Amino acid sequence: MRRINIGLLGCGTVGRGFVDLLARERERIRGRDGVDIAVRRILVRDADKPRPGINPSLLSTAALDILDDGCDIIVELVGGVHSAGAFVRRALANGKHVVTANKALLADSGRELFASAERNRVRIGFEASVCGGIPIVRALRLGLAGDRIESISGILNGTCNYILTRMEQDDLEFDGALRLAKERGFAEADSALDVGGEDAAQKLRILGELAFGPQHVNMRVHGIGDVTHAEIEQARARRCVVRHVATARQVGGGIEMRVERRELPEFHPLAGIRDENNAVVIRGRAVGELMFQGKGAGSLPTAAAVLSDVIEIAACSTMTP
Ligand code: NAP
Ligand code: HSE
Repeated sequence: MRRINIGLLGCGTVGRGFVDLLARERERIRGRDGVDIAVRRILVRDADKPRPGINPSLLSTAALDILDDGCDIIVELVGGVHSAGAFVRRALANGKHVVTANKALLADSGRELFASAERNRVRIGFEASVCGGIPIVRALRLGLAGDRIESISGILNGTCNYILTRMEQDDLEFDGALRLAKERGFAEADSALDVGGEDAAQKLRILGELAFGPQHVNMRVHGIGDVTHAEIEQARARRCVVRHVATARQVGGGIEMRVERRELPEFHPLAGIRDENNAVVIRGRAVGELMFQGKGAGSLPTAAAVLSDVIEIAACSTMTP
């Protein structure tokens, strides 16, 4: 039985979910995968905040204490580009594997970070960075490796979909629906990234790179920040719903990517995706059309994706016995 020590950076919505889920599943993982995964330290900003279920002796506000000590895998759940980027760069330089849910960081500096991981002979797991609990990264990286992907379309932001659903089903206006999405822990620390469309665009860039490789991207992004209840009612009168849809397709000269609000007929496969759920439709030349759907945001669904990366790295990599 190999012991795998985790340095956890961040104990917010996803970090707490990761600690909870690991506590529930640790014995099962020991039996199934032959690794004993334990959280050794947890980085937070405020060590005095009440955190039910978290052992206070694990908390630290000193990043270097965690990045430079004997952890095998650094799990980055801090979010944002600046501090998180510095933490991940240091972890990789120290020869530690990294698991992250941070699409903003990957969209900003992914190529540099993967090059650093390769130089340092470590891995970066990022399943949780796109579509929360849906294993879409693994599907594209492994399951569809034998096919040529022609297009990707889907709902990639749980906050936007939750807002549009609440406006449609509960007759809320935008601000009230956004407040609920924040309370449920779906929104980014800066919710303008969700409602402005940038979060979905970051995820689309990650999926596009996996599906099509590095190519020139022509991207257009529109959000849902100006959607009104009247617009949703008008769509309903036409037997349609409003959804925030991301698409990527190969065109001559590169990849065309669009993130935009669309009115979809009620019978459209994406029209039935509600609440914080996401969906991705992939068209492959050999497999035809595949659809993946499930929870795209939230504590435990996202933590499940993080833990799957930790297990994959722990079970496949050579680490200290
Ligand atoms: P969150 O609730 O805001 O939690 C962030 C955590 O990081 C908090 O514990 C915070 O400490 C800590 N932190 C932030 N900046 C720090 C710094 N400079 N130094 C030390 N600690 C710092 O965020 P979250 O929703 O869990 O999201 C984390 C990551 O997962 C983000 O990249 C996000 O995009 C991604 N993600 C989130 C979801 C979701 O449903 N929420 C789903 C998929 C992916 P304090 O607790 O002391 O404030
Ligand atoms: N804020 C993101 C969303 C979290 O709502 O989809 C999941 O990546």
